[in-house]
Amino acid sequence: MSFYQVSLMSFSHPKSNNIFNEVSFKLDKNERIGFFGPNGSGKTTMAKLMMGILKPTGGEILLEGKPAFKMGLARIGQRVGYVFQNPSKQLFAPTVWEQVAFGLSMGKEGALEG
Ligand SMILES: Nc1ncnc2c1ncn2[C@@H]1O[C@H](COP(=O)(O)OP(=O)(O)OP(=O)(O)O)[C@@H](O)[C@H]1O
Ligand SMILES: [Mg+2]
Repeated sequence: MSFYQVSLMSFSHPKSNNIFNEVSFKLDKNERIGFFGPNGSGKTTMAKLMMGILKPTGGEILLEGKPAFKMGLARIGQRVGYVFQNPSKQLFAPTVWEQVAFGLSMGKEGALEG
């Protein structure tokens, strides 16, 4: 089973044209890939779809065989790291020490799941 399996995945933001039209690819653990494209071509949108933040309008994105969108961000976060495009949306602690300590203090199950 692939780590990620994207099958015939389509997506459009509300009230906008299709960004992805039946896109398929597989991504295995430890494999490295890059998404290239001009501004507004959909790189961030693809990352958000793979993190389950956005839901495909067609097809599916499976993470270890399960639909990413149904897994919930806390569970996906235990399997996949996501670095936001804008650092100001990612960093929230006043010091590096506190920022790094936050992740380590979450425990195996993740404090976000409550
Ligand atoms: N929340 C949203 N609602 C509607 N349209 C959106 C939304 N977010 C992005 N878009 C549109 O979707 C398209 C893809 O945007 P996206 O941010 O994924 O591109 P990108 O490749 O990451 O661009 P950049 O190189 O500037 O980071 C663009 O046309 C953008 O205007
Ligand atoms: Mg982007």
